[in-house]
Amino acid sequence: MNRARRKLEHIQHALLLEQEGANGFDDIVFVHQSLPGIRTNDVKLHTTLGELSLSSPLFINAMTGGGGQATLDINKGLAEAAKACGIAMSVGSQMAAVKDASERPSFEIVRQVNPNGLIFANIGSEATVDEAKRAVEMVEANGLQIHLNVVQELVMPEGDRDFTGALARIERIVRDVGVPVIVKEVGFGISKETALQLVNVGVKLIDVGGFGGTNFARIENKRREEMISYFNDWGISTAASIVEVLQGAPSVAVIASGGIRTAFDAAKAIALGANAVGVARPFLQELVGRGMESVVALIEAWHTDLVRLMTALGAKTIEELQSVPLVIRGDTHHWLTERGFD
Ligand code: FNR
Repeated sequence: MNRARRKLEHIQHALLLEQEGANGFDDIVFVHQSLPGIRTNDVKLHTTLGELSLSSPLFINAMTGGGGQATLDINKGLAEAAKACGIAMSVGSQMAAVKDASERPSFEIVRQVNPNGLIFANIGSEATVDEAKRAVEMVEANGLQIHLNVVQELVMPEGDRDFTGALARIERIVRDVGVPVIVKEVGFGISKETALQLVNVGVKLIDVGGFGGTNFARIENKRREEMISYFNDWGISTAASIVEVLQGAPSVAVIASGGIRTAFDAAKAIALGANAVGVARPFLQELVGRGMESVVALIEAWHTDLVRLMTALGAKTIEELQSVPLVIRGDTHHWLTERGFD
């Protein structure tokens, strides 16, 4: 199957995906505070990811690029929305574009539209240092995402079957690429053990890409004739994965993504310890269904909701939100107890 067609199929199936699993955030409950003692105007959404400074914890996570006009139009619309709202944005995987120059325009447009914005490049863990550098140069990226997607590859008939050497390649890229590196999952979550492996090779930023949102096992299963159903519910929920990563690597900055569907989810993710929150499918859906202006309106509404939630909790900053009291119940409590996390 040709790669451009696969990308379009991913977008189509992602838009049609009716059912998402449990992201774990229903199990997280804030403890109401009757005397928060702050004004909405006091609340600041600014956050940091290591040396990177973000005006908002929300960003548009990696989706597309490469292929034809359709992915160029999507990336242009997302980049315009990111610019209008002053939020960061990742491009989709550039693995094809680092090898084939004809794939580059739909990535380059993101920097053309938003010359001063915060943009993340995106590659797979099969990439060499040289390929990583080319991906960064292509969009003049401020950071580089390296995605880990073993389950997606295993479900794809044409996917990779050899997962050796990834950690050593990540180590070399972190050392030599020259911009901050974010290692991310794509919907299956990152465990304590994986976080520890990553931090040991110098990774400082981890996007949990947890279970409970866009599900690439289900998407790939829709594209194949014979279903591999045991991967459909595979993975660590996004809520549990934030705690997993912080248990394995307390020094890393955590990005929460995977099924973040409301500002309420985002606030809970931050309260569990995340510094930033990535959202993919809802922004794509809004763009394709209603257009760029609607993506801007959606992001602005999330910002308003975040300020309202933080005011209720008495948290003036993202840092303060990270330490408000909360109660963890249900399956997430069970998971964290079984894993020995207190
Ligand atoms: C993705 N995602 C993704 N991630 C990545 O690192 N490289 C990529 O090329 C892609 N491609 C891609 C295409 C489409 C259509 C979607 C919807 C998603 C994964 C994405 O960045 C994110 O980790 C997951 O989608 C989970 O977030 P949501 O969608 O549940 O908010």
